[in-house]
Amino acid sequence: MKNVLLTVVTVTLIIVLGITGFAYSGIYDVSANNGHSSVVSWFLSATRHESIARRAKDVEVPDLTDESLALAGINDFNSMCIGCHGAPGIGPEAIGQGLNPPAPDLADEAAEMSAAELFWVTKNGIMMTGMPAWGATHGDDAIWPVVAFMTKLPDLDADGYQQMLTAAAGQGHHAEEAPGAAHSHEESEASATSDIHVHDDGTEHDHGAAAKAAEEEAPAADDHSTHQHNED
Ligand code: HEC
Repeated sequence: MKNVLLTVVTVTLIIVLGITGFAYSGIYDVSANNGHSSVVSWFLSATRHESIARRAKDVEVPDLTDESLALAGINDFNSMCIGCHGAPGIGPEAIGQGLNPPAPDLADEAAEMSAAELFWVTKNGIMMTGMPAWGATHGDDAIWPVVAFMTKLPDLDADGYQQMLTAAAGQGHHAEEAPGAAHSHEESEASATSDIHVHDDGTEHDHGAAAKAAEEEAPAADDHSTHQHNED
């Protein structure tokens, strides 16, 4: 009995030391140029697949049949996903081309995955890959339209994709502005208004039409000192 215990402890120690030694040896190539070995790839792929399937069981899927929901999601898809995944007729950008594991074609994924799984992945991302957790910055109500759109992907060709983008624009669904975009818009407005010098006596010197237009947008700006940049 004592011998068995000693063997178990020794073997465990050797394994732990071996793994630690391997990590510290620098032997493993973490470069994104070469994929994982086929064994590691299989392990990660099986782990991902089962993990998503298990967790997606708890997702309550709303009614996605309403066509307007998919239309509401295409702009977010177009701005948030295609850089890595591409879209019908559009290849991935530089960021997507250098990813390892690569970002798959979502038309193929959408044909195989359930809406609950698509939602779970989009919201939670996939650890140690380039796939971000969009739920960190987006509520469920913003993610479901993207999922509704993805369910249309298997039937869309390049033309269909462009037509849908146009239809979405016509419906007033505008492409999501990147977080910095709204800010820089505010900022450019603020810098335009700073060209107007309204003095306390009411006289005003503006420099050009742009400043005038900006003044109309910001009538409350009655003092030069209010022209501050809202740095957040
Ligand atoms: C920065 C790059 C990047 C962006 C942007 C990105 N993804 Fe991904 N995505 C990935 C990578 C990489 C994988 C593959 C992960 C893997 O193989 O485990 C992936 C996988 C997926 C999968 C498939 C998961 C599976 O089990 O096969 C779905 C679905 C997905 N992404 C949806 C989205 C959606 C929707 C968006 C936009 C809201 C998005 N992705 C944006 C990189 C990205």
